[in-house]
Order: sequence, then structure tokens, then C-alpha cells
Amino acid sequence: MSTPRPAAVLVLAAGEGTRMRSTTPKVLHHIGGVPLVGHAIRAARGTGAQHVGVVVRHDRDRVAELCTTLDDRLVIADQDEVKGTARAVECGLGALPADLSGTVLVTYGDVPLLTGDTLVELTAAHLETGSAVSVVTAHLADPTGYGRVVRDANGRVEQIVEHKDATEAQRRITEINSGIYAFDVSVLREALASVGTDNAQGERYLTDVVALARAAGRPVRAHVLDDLWQTEGVNDRVQLAALGRELNRRICEGHMRAGVTIVDPATTWIDVDVTIGQDTTVLPGTQLLGATSVGAGALIGPQVTLTDTEVGDGAEVSRAVANLAVIGPGATVGPYSYLRPGTRLGARGKIGGFVETKNADIGEGAKVPHLTYAGDVTIGEGANIGAGTIFANYDGVAKHHSTVGRHSFVGSSTVVVSPVDVADGAYVAAGSALTQDVEPGQIAVARGRQRNIDGWVERSRAGTAAATAAREARARHTDGPEPATSEGNAS
Ligand code: UD1
Ligand code: CA
Repeated sequence: MSTPRPAAVLVLAAGEGTRMRSTTPKVLHHIGGVPLVGHAIRAARGTGAQHVGVVVRHDRDRVAELCTTLDDRLVIADQDEVKGTARAVECGLGALPADLSGTVLVTYGDVPLLTGDTLVELTAAHLETGSAVSVVTAHLADPTGYGRVVRDANGRVEQIVEHKDATEAQRRITEINSGIYAFDVSVLREALASVGTDNAQGERYLTDVVALARAAGRPVRAHVLDDLWQTEGVNDRVQLAALGRELNRRICEGHMRAGVTIVDPATTWIDVDVTIGQDTTVLPGTQLLGATSVGAGALIGPQVTLTDTEVGDGAEVSRAVANLAVIGPGATVGPYSYLRPGTRLGARGKIGGFVETKNADIGEGAKVPHLTYAGDVTIGEGANIGAGTIFANYDGVAKHHSTVGRHSFVGSSTVVVSPVDVADGAYVAAGSALTQDVEPGQIAVARGRQRNIDGWVERSRAGTAAATAAREARARHTDGPEPATSEGNAS
């Protein structure tokens, strides 16, 4: 039997979130590489519901725009100036088809660890028990601030009382309302019509629906969750960090259970959408962010930050930063390498220490091992770029592209003044300042010829330790040239 789906999920996200003390709306703050409201939308989508709506008001345009970027099938519902969670749900229902029937779930935009699986279980239990209202509850050691679940003598849920409206005895109740619910939509509509504002905050409380449904003889039940993290909301940045760490712990655990070695999960940060192949090892201090994917049997870390980067099987990356780069299978990167957008390193290629690359297509087995800037360049298969080579791609106005052909060799400390094409099987002498193309099989030598001037040190640096050392060295090598003591008798 396929699991029954809710007809709709409403995500409440109209609140202001003042305790974040931020110019960014609370639900747009991120954990695990996804905004808080994005986590809520993903969980909602995980139910397979036909409609997912987000109720917005505070910073409406920013929140709505971000939400539709994340999911273009979303329904955006605007809450008016009437306050309270009941009004938020009314506004949400108003944006859905009027003939909607079946189950509607309500969640919050600031409860990021709630999963789609939990909502699926909630829906199934709600329908199996024939309930009209299912409230997700949890038992907290410190329930301060939450709405309390008041049960009758038979243990059935009677009502929810907000902390501010609760009596001393009710405040001692440790079972709290998480704010996540499953409703039969017709019961919900009927009850909402009777929700007033007679409470400490003068708001229209969604929680009143519980007592109203009970009074109308509708079955109400509590769906108790043991995993407290899934009910926890973000109100300030301290909670944002705590929930971010817990989410990361869960993500790392998922990868470890799937066959990835993570040496130190506490210093490894992995975003929700990252994929990692079997038997890859992740060393401490590593961040795998955005849409990064890592193949199998790779070695990543220590101290690596990869953003939207693809790493092939068996590659090794240490102490590196890469953004929108592709690292081929069996390739090695680092230590201390900076791969900027458009870097593509071929299979078994190498980008070594203190190398920066950008728009660089580096062929199979090609090596850029030391101290190089390679921007706007295509480097052929098996080529070797000597230490300290700079591809000078920018002339102050425009960027230019250079190529180095297959199995070519660029000597150390060369400046390639782009655009220049070095053909396949060509060499460039060390120290060249290359401004012209090089044909296949040629070596380009683009530098001043060396001149040695005899006796210069003793003449121009007379009396220094260098002058003494030169004289002593010559005395030891009797066949060495005579010192030239003055301009006139230089040999
Ligand atoms: C609410 C519940 C409380 C529960 C707690 C769990 C009510 C009356 N109380 O209290 O029983 O224990 O959540 O966290 O429902 N929102 C809107 N529009 C509004 C008001 C709120 O969209 O007019 C959204 C907020 O953005 C937030 C959520 O609803 O995501 C909860 O609102 P909040 O004001 O934090 O409710 P609490 O007082 O915490
Ligand atoms: Ca809250």
C-alpha cells in the first residue's frame, strides 16, 4: 500500500524574528548550505503533497523571492495585518484551492531539522487513527515559553495553553506543542472561524483549534516525537549555531554509515546536498559546500574548502580552496592551492603548492606543480609547467587566453604574456618572457643572454666580505683568472 499523502503543507514564515538582530529575515539565514525556510520546504516536499504554501509577511518580497528560487511550484500566501498563527493558516488556506479536501500539515519556516520522513509518519498516524487534529508534541526538561499540552483524566489531549496564558499548575506540564500539526482541512476551516483574540497577546492562536475541535466532538491526538531536535526552532544566532552543528553531525553520520571515513566530524562541515563516494577519507578541518561531489576512494583534507566542486575517484586534495572547479580522477591538488571558477584538472593531473588557477583547462597527466598563476589557459595532456610560471592574462584592459600544447615543457620562472600559443611538443627556456607563438618541436628562448664581468666585486665592492671571499677562492684555484684591480688591466 502506498503511503497516503497530505493534500497540502503550509509553512508559516510571516514572523519577524527580531532576536536574530539581523537585516536579513530570520528564515533566510543558512545552516548546512540551505536557508532555514529551504529546509522547511524540502521537508514539506518530502511528503509528496500536491500543494506546498509558504505564508509570508515580514520582509515579504525577499522571503517570497528566495522561496520561489528554491522551488518554483510553491504557493506564496500573504498574511495581512491580523496577528497570530491562526490568521497565518487562514491566509495560507486562502491561497490554496477552495475545494481542497483531506489532510493539511502545518509547519514553521524556522524549524530546520524536521524531516520529510517525520511528516510522512505524522500523516500516516493521523489517518490510521482517524484523527481530525494531530499535534506534534515533545517532552522538554525546560518547557518555558512553549505552549503546554493539557490532557484530560483519560490522557486525551484537551487543549493547548500558551505559556503566557497558563496557570502555575499548567506551567509545570513538560509536554509542549511543537507547532507542527496535521489537520482534517474541513475541521480546521470550521474551527478557525471561531478562533478569537481573548488571550495575553491579543493574537489569533492556531492552538485554540485543538480545544474547538475537541468541543465539536472531533478526535484530537498528540503525536509525540522523541527526537527533540526536529521540533526545535531558531530564534537567535546561538540557536542557529547549535542547530547547524547538530545538522552537520547528522550529515556526517549519514556519510559515515554509507562508507565514508570522516576522521574528525567535529571539524568537518558538509552541506546537505554534497555527495561522497565509498571509501573516501575526509581529514580534519574540511568543508564540503554547495553542490560539491566527491568520488570514491578519494582523500580530501586536511584543511580543504570545496564549493560547488567536482572531485573524481581516487583524487587527493590537501590544504586547498576550490570554487566551481573540476578535479579529475586520480589527480592531486595541494598543499596550498587555490582553484577558482572554471578550473578543470584532467585525470592524474597535478596542481601543486602555491598555485592559483582560473579558467584553466589542464589536460590529463599535465602538471602545474609549484608557485604558478594559470589564468585563462588551456594546457595539453602531459605538459609540464615549471616552477614560478605566470600566465599574464590581463593587460590592464582585457583578459587574454594562452595555450600550451600536449607534452610541452615550460621552463621555470617564465612569464607567458597572453595571448600566446605554445604548440604540441614545444619547449620554453627557463626565465623566458614569452610574447610570440612557439611551433611544434621548437624551443623558445626569450631572455637576455648572460654576461659575466670579471673582477667586478673587488672593484665595486672593495673591502666587503664578498670581495675577500672572491680573493680567497681565486687563491685556492691557481688556474682561476687573475684579479683585476683596476679598469685598465681587466682581462
Ligand atoms: C507557537 C505556538 C506554541 C508553540 C510554539 C512552538 C501559537 C499560538 N503558539 O508559539 O504553542 O509551543 O509555537 O515553537 O501558535 N507566524 C506567522 N504569522 C504570525 C505569527 C507567527 O507566520 O502571525 C509564524 C512565525 O514566523 C513562526 C511560527 O509561526 O515561524 C511561530 O510563531 P511564534 O510567534 O514564534 O510562536 P510562539 O509564540 O513561539
Ligand atoms: Ca518561536
